[in-house]
Parts: sequence; structure tokens; C-alpha cells
Amino acid sequence: MSQDRPGWSEEDSTLYEQLALVAVPCREEQLATLITQIPFGVDESFRIVELACGGGSLARALMELYPRATLLAMDGSSSMLRAARQRLVGFGSRAEVASFDLAADDWYVRIEGAGCVISTLAVHHLPDEGKRRLFRSVFDRLHQTGALLIADVIAGFRPQTWGLHADLYDRIAKAQSLSSTGSRNLVEQLEREEWNLFRHPDPVDMPATIGEQLAWLGEAGFRDVDCWWLRAGHAVFGGYKTAWVGKSHGVPINGPSYDHALTAVFDALAN
Ligand SMILES: C[S@@+](CC[C@H](N)C(=O)[O-])C[C@H]1O[C@@H](n2cnc3c(N)ncnc32)[C@H](O)[C@@H]1O
Repeated sequence: MSQDRPGWSEEDSTLYEQLALVAVPCREEQLATLITQIPFGVDESFRIVELACGGGSLARALMELYPRATLLAMDGSSSMLRAARQRLVGFGSRAEVASFDLAADDWYVRIEGAGCVISTLAVHHLPDEGKRRLFRSVFDRLHQTGALLIADVIAGFRPQTWGLHADLYDRIAKAQSLSSTGSRNLVEQLEREEWNLFRHPDPVDMPATIGEQLAWLGEAGFRDVDCWWLRAGHAVFGGYKTAWVGKSHGVPINGPSYDHALTAVFDALAN
């Protein structure tokens, strides 16, 4: 990623890799939730494109869960790309890792015909007009049965909403620090780094509210736009190119159960 313009830096990548255990509330739950909304069965062939894949953990879980799928994982940070390549090397030509700039449009051609475009904790680095353009561009290029699925930080309209997100974020970070390491060290580092963006705004972070983003997805043409999980200023949401018929339970797609997805996410994060 270019170091001569404001935005995510290599230092941010290093810090995120150190703090992710506590910096992302209920990370496994968020990722497993997102996976359960993929509109393909585990035995289907389809193409996944991950935007801002970071170290490639979600990509790895998807490769394990969908053995006939192929994946393109893109990021702008060289250290993240290195980590992702390492995590995905075992999947051979099924998984490709490439550099991109989320804010540019020269990579849109790479999502042509994708069955699933996913992104976690990155879309909030785009200004609102950039998010709307991204949603339109993905919609125009997705496969007819495809989906755009996002997990990201969200804004509040009112100060008390920002306050709630900030408080819950701290509370969960503290609990995760204790449960994953048995100490407060990680959460104390998180506090020193002022990583809680709900308490410490940073121009690199430009979250929009969940309501705005669901509306923009609808404006872009997405159907069945919904939010499936929301906690501590983080949400999992998205939409589909084609609507499901009615709102019935319908015939389920042969996708992974929540438990199965959660296990794959735990494994991928540990490897
Ligand atoms: C908070 S990390 C999330 C990484 C991963 N998706 C996850 O959930 O663990 C944000 C990621 O977005 C990437 N990123 C931020 N701005 C970007 C840009 N303009 N172009 C490409 N990648 C970008 C960073 O390199 C980093 O990997």
C-alpha cells in the first residue's frame, strides 16, 4: 500500500496482527455468521473474491469449507499479503492472492462473474461515496446468484450510540484479553494505542451507520438486504443479486451449519 497518502499503514498491519485477538469483538462469531449467509452449497463450484483479506484467515476457512470453490484474496499491505500467501499456499491454484487498492477501480474487472464478494473490517476505510460506488460496482459484476457479504465497523447517528459502541467494545476487549491470554496486557496495549475508534476517532476510519449502508445496498440493486449480527459497533450485513422467492424458510442451500463454520474459523485463525 502506498505510504505517501493518508490511510492504512504497514505499522497498522503489524499492530492489528498483534491486537486482533482483542481488537475485534467476537471475531469468530462474526466470521461464522457471514459464512452461513453465502448463497452456495458446500459441493458447488463458485468464485469468491475477498476485498482486504488481511492475513487470510477467513479465506482459509472458506477454502476448507467449500472444496470446489476458487478464491481471489486481495489486500494493499505487503505484510498482510505475505501472511495470506503463507496461509493459503496449501490450496494451490484454487486460491490466488493479489495486491490492490480498495479505493481505486482498476481491480473491478477481477470481480466479474464472482459468486460471492466478501470483506471484513475494511469498507469503513472508504468515504461514504466510495462505499456507494463499491456497492454499485459489485452489484453490476456479480453472478446472477451472487452476494456481497460484509462484516464491518458501523457509525452511530447520536452521541449515545457512539458511547454505547465504545463501552461495549471496551468491555468485550477486556473479556477477550483475559479469556485468550489470561492477562490484561493486550487490552492495556489496545487502550494505549487508542484503538477503540468509537472513543478515539481517526480520519482513517469513516464508518457509516448500518441503516445508511443497507439503504445504499438497496439503491445499488441488491435484494434481500439484511443485517444478521450487530454488537459493539460491528455488524455483519449484505445483499444478493437475486431475491429469494417470498420470505419462506424455503429449501435450504446445502451450506455449512453455524457450528461447522465456527469450527473452520477457529481452525483457520489458529493456523
Ligand atoms: C482491520 S484489517 C482487517 C483485515 C481482515 N479483513 C480481517 O478481518 O482480519 C484492515 C485491512 O484492510 C486493508 N486495507 C485498508 N485500506 C486498504 C486499501 N485502501 N486498499 C487495500 N487494502 C486496504 C489493510 O491492509 C488490512 O489488511
